[in-house]
Amino acid sequence: MKVIVTGGTGYIGSHTIVDLMQNGFEVVCIDNLMRSKEYALSGIEKITGTKPVFHYIDLCNKDATFDVISGHKDAVGIIHFAALKSVGESVEQPLLYYHNNVDSLLNILAAVKEFDIPNFVFSSSCSVYGNADELPVTEHTLMQKAESPYAHTKQIGEDIIRNFSKVHSSQHILLRYFNPIGAHPSSFIGEIPIDKPNNLVPYITQTAIGKMQQLTVFGDDYETRDGSCIRDYIHVCDIAHAHTLALQHLLHKENESNIEVFNLGTGMGVSVLEVIEAFEKVSGQKLNYTIGPRRAGDVVAVYADNTKAEVRLGWKCQYSLEDAMLSAWNWELKMRELGL
Ligand code: UFG
Repeated sequence: MKVIVTGGTGYIGSHTIVDLMQNGFEVVCIDNLMRSKEYALSGIEKITGTKPVFHYIDLCNKDATFDVISGHKDAVGIIHFAALKSVGESVEQPLLYYHNNVDSLLNILAAVKEFDIPNFVFSSSCSVYGNADELPVTEHTLMQKAESPYAHTKQIGEDIIRNFSKVHSSQHILLRYFNPIGAHPSSFIGEIPIDKPNNLVPYITQTAIGKMQQLTVFGDDYETRDGSCIRDYIHVCDIAHAHTLALQHLLHKENESNIEVFNLGTGMGVSVLEVIEAFEKVSGQKLNYTIGPRRAGDVVAVYADNTKAEVRLGWKCQYSLEDAMLSAWNWELKMRELGL
């Protein structure tokens, strides 16, 4: 069965392709390589023995999108990862984020409609909850104001799909990721930050390896147990497998409605300082870090109630925070070896 994966050379996309292929799916990968490298395809091949079919196009180009999808009308579904994802950058360049994340979604949905692709899985984010009133957040927790344009594009994306689902026969799943970290245990794929890393864990590993001089912890005066922000860090392979399960859920017609939402987190809130401590423990490295001011657009704390995904998708996290930090460190070492 053929699945189209947009943003497939990206971080979560590439891990999901591996999981899909290892579960018998044939994968067609689409990416514009704006924030990823073609190397991911070789990494996938090293793990699975097969290189997925690859289309190098920008989904903001509707003609190119239709051209590619028309050649894969037999696909059982589309998993749509392609998007920009840096909170800080989105605050500085909001139009870039609205344009890229919303236009590409509109084009891919237009293609779903045009070519009758039956199933659609969307990469959403825990950032849609904003500064939530209750923790852990469930899928029913009321969404607050988006704290960044990035988060807003995910709220808008969910709304667009919700309205689309009211009038189209395709089936839809929105997956709200918490903070994906780590790399495939083989160390053949992982996150490849282009330019300066934006997210905490690649920043930590790049500091430890000497690419970055020092990590700044963005604020230690939040109302949390140690003053730093709290997130739900989840191994990227656990997130990846949830996509295979979500697709199978749709294919087996186990969905209760034609749009369903699932939180993908571990259920555990971890502070920035605790992540650093876990890294130091598994790597044996002392991390050079300092405390700096708060970062615009950050929420104070967010972590998941993941009961729904466990019960309905039969999903369970396999990896611990330490596993994830060790795999992130091994990947950083591997990137140096590969010259990435
Ligand atoms: N942080 C630092 N220093 C850094 C980088 C991050 O202290 O150099 C802190 C942040 O302030 C935050 C935590 O580490 O408290 C995590 O920050 P990330 O940038 O790694 O991730 P976010 O929580 O901002 O999450 C965002 C989106 C998610 C998305 C995730 C990964 O909200 O949807 O980035 O792209 F999954």
